Amino acid sequence: MTATSKPLLERRDVAVLVPAAGQGLRLGGDVPKALRDLHGQSLLVHCLRALAAAPSVGLIVVAAPAAHLGAVRAQLPEATVVEGGSTRQESVSNALAAVPASFEIVLVHDAARALTPPSLIEAVAAAVRTGHDAVIPVLPVVDTIKQLSPDGHVLTTVDRSQLGAVQTPQGFRRDLLTKAHATATDAHTDDAGLVERMGLPVFTVPGHPEALKITTPFDLLIAESILRSRN
Ligand code: CTP
Ligand code: MG
Repeated sequence: MTATSKPLLERRDVAVLVPAAGQGLRLGGDVPKALRDLHGQSLLVHCLRALAAAPSVGLIVVAAPAAHLGAVRAQLPEATVVEGGSTRQESVSNALAAVPASFEIVLVHDAARALTPPSLIEAVAAAVRTGHDAVIPVLPVVDTIKQLSPDGHVLTTVDRSQLGAVQTPQGFRRDLLTKAHATATDAHTDDAGLVERMGLPVFTVPGHPEALKITTPFDLLIAESILRSRN
């Protein structure tokens, strides 16, 4: 490794915001999704382990369900835990407000992507560090995608080669993320969407299949087999 590439790694200069305050309605069950068990640990604990294994990460701020703040703080003594909001965007804003000014790079990472490899976290952080102010991991779309009418008929087939399935962590120069959230006027399902709305570029890096978002009971089965394959 050369002297100039060394600073790209292992700096602990990255703060990670973890929106974890969702209900998990599509997964079902009687606890919020981030607290659901997977092989003896909550999804949130799996997620935090992956983040802690990434050498760049120096701070983790979790936005937790209001009713479970105490439980989450007890599970995650190494993280800063704040109360989540009624939307993902609000949860991210709450977590961002708790990041000290010394962190210039901020990643936003869904608790639901609990098995994300540390290498992907590092790849996103490195891309921000090399000068991309907004970075997202993207996987190719494998299914044929069609636009549908409300009554269930096909309107058109979309050109799949121009599409990407977007994951987290998404990485940002901190000033940009702060401005994007402060000036948001509408709802977005990810943070890069707020940057796109400002007319600013968003860079992509290759995503990872194991960074899947655990959304449905079927995804939990996939997550279980990923864990089995690692052990
Ligand atoms: N999230 C959050 N605050 C909210 C809503 C969502 O912090 N008010 C978080 C979730 O905890 C999750 C991430 O945003 O880690 C992505 O959201 P999603 O996968 O949709 O999770 P849920 O909203 O919990 O699930 P569902 O939409 O099925 O209810
Ligand atoms: Mg949701």
